Amino acid sequence: MLVSAIIVAAGKGERIKTPVPKQFLDVDGIPIISFSLSYLENAEIVDEIIIVTLLEWMDYVKKIVLNGKFGKVSEIIEGGERRQDSFKTGLAIAKGGIIIDHDAARPFPGVLNIDEMVEKCREIGAIIPVIPVNDTVKYVGEGKVRKTIDRRGLFCVQTPQVFRRELCERAYKMAEEDGFYGSDTASLLENSGIPVFTTRGSVFNIKITTEDDLVLVRAINRRYSNHR
Ligand code: CTP
Ligand code: MG
Repeated sequence: MLVSAIIVAAGKGERIKTPVPKQFLDVDGIPIISFSLSYLENAEIVDEIIIVTLLEWMDYVKKIVLNGKFGKVSEIIEGGERRQDSFKTGLAIAKGGIIIDHDAARPFPGVLNIDEMVEKCREIGAIIPVIPVNDTVKYVGEGKVRKTIDRRGLFCVQTPQVFRRELCERAYKMAEEDGFYGSDTASLLENSGIPVFTTRGSVFNIKITTEDDLVLVRAINRRYSNHR
C-alpha cells in the first residue's frame, strides 16, 4: 500500500498575526514548511507528498519545492476555509492507501518514529501522537475560574496522524452528513465511531501558534538539527 503524506499549509495564522503566514516564516534562514518537507522527503516510507496551501502562496511553495528538490511532491493544491476542508482536498487526490496527515506549522515530526506509526496503522487503522497534560487545567470565564478539570486522562494531540485511507473517507462522508467539525482529522474518525489509537508524542514536536513558539522552535532546531 502506497503512503501519501498530506501537508496542510492553507491556514492564515490568525492567532500569531504575522504578515506572513506562520508556515512560511523563516527560522534560521529556512521557511517553516521546509522543515517537515525535508523530513518527509527523506523518509523512505513516504511515497508521495501533497501540499495544500493558500492560492496567493502557491508560487512561493512551488519555488520551495523546486529549489529544495523535493521530488516526492506530486501536487500543490488550494486549501479551504477550515483545516478539515484543506485536508479533504488533499485526500481527494492522494494515491496512497495509507495517509499521513501533517501540519505545515509543526516543523519537527522527525522527533517521532513515523515508520513505526505507519507500520502500526497498517494493522490498527488510525494512530495519533499525544502527550499528557502536565499543568492543572481550569475553565476560566471573564477572568474568573469556573471549574477545575481532572487532568488525568487528558492529552494534547499532535500530528503526524496516520490513517488507512478508507477510514478517512468514511469519516469525511459521515462528517458531511452530520455537519460535524473537528480541529483535527482524528476527531472525524471518532465521530464515526472508528477507533483511534495513540502513541507517545514529544514536547519537541511543537506547533507554532503564537510568536513565543518561535523562540522554542529556534532552540529545538539547534538541538535536533540532525533530525532533518
Ligand atoms: N490549516 C489549513 N487550512 C485551514 C486552516 C489550517 O491547511 N483552513 C493548516 C495550517 O496551515 C496549519 C495546520 O492546519 O499548518 C494547523 O492549524 P493552525 O495551527 O490552527 O493554523 P492556522 O489556522 O493557520 O492558525 P490560527 O488557528 O491561529 O488561525
Ligand atoms: Mg486554525
